[in-house]
Amino acid sequence: MIGLHPRRQADPAAGTAPIGGINGGDGSGAIIELQGVSRVYDTGRVVVPALEEVNLRVERGEFLAIVGPSGSGKSTMMNILGCLDRPTAGRYVLDGSPIDELDDAGLAALRSRSIGFVFQSYNLLPRTSALENVAAPLAYQGVGRHERTLRAGAMLERLGLGDRLHHQPTELSGGQQQRVGIARALVTDPAILLADEPTGNLDSRSGAEVIELFHELHDAGRTIVLITHDPDVAAAAGRQVHIRDGRIAA
Ligand SMILES: Nc1ncnc2c1ncn2[C@@H]1O[C@H](COP(=O)(O)OP(=O)(O)OP(=O)(O)O)[C@@H](O)[C@H]1O
Ligand SMILES: [Mg+2]
Repeated sequence: MIGLHPRRQADPAAGTAPIGGINGGDGSGAIIELQGVSRVYDTGRVVVPALEEVNLRVERGEFLAIVGPSGSGKSTMMNILGCLDRPTAGRYVLDGSPIDELDDAGLAALRSRSIGFVFQSYNLLPRTSALENVAAPLAYQGVGRHERTLRAGAMLERLGLGDRLHHQPTELSGGQQQRVGIARALVTDPAILLADEPTGNLDSRSGAEVIELFHELHDAGRTIVLITHDPDVAAAAGRQVHIRDGRIAA
């Protein structure tokens, strides 16, 4: 992908106000800490060590890219970081909580509170309006219908989609669908935005807009972890770590 801007300050005149959040810049220290984390897939027929003794520390407010080729372990890493999966060895401390001390319900609650996910294929609910898509994560947190609608509408407004609230995914462009996906990720005000190939399905202009939005979020103090195979996309981040054959390269 080409045409990515170098890092610059958010420009309020560009249409969207800076988007921060109470979980943004407060506090200090590591928000993510992996210590000797491994993930072995054992299918019964084959045993695949997809991650091997990974050590990684992400500071609060960092914009980090995890970059590596196909099969290097990026999605495995995303699933672990996002608490969708657990390590088979090692220790993961997320936002101060060692996850091995949590049962599945506790892990789901931590995930809902701490992580906003952005996916390559948007993963929006079909035949469901942008507004309802963005409001959905708030329902899991027990937020009432009226407040859900207000907060989802405000977030879409801030991402420049105030005139698309009642459009369904098929009635939106790819770039607009990804902005709905980002609004959904941010509506719960998570500490971390975790994005897996967020520009992978977008043309270069829409991709550059998504990266620009990430810069704006980072400038406002949000922690961003961006997972990609694309070195040009990774270059947008403040720091890159390279993963190869399940290991972080020095
Ligand atoms: N459920 C599974 N069972 C067995 N092996 C798996 C499973 N999921 C992934 N693997 C293997 O683990 C390794 C890492 O896979 P992973 O999906 O994390 O790679 P990736 O970096 O995301 O690749 P891509 O860029 O192609 O998405 C690969 O060798 C893959 O074949
Ligand atoms: Mg993958």
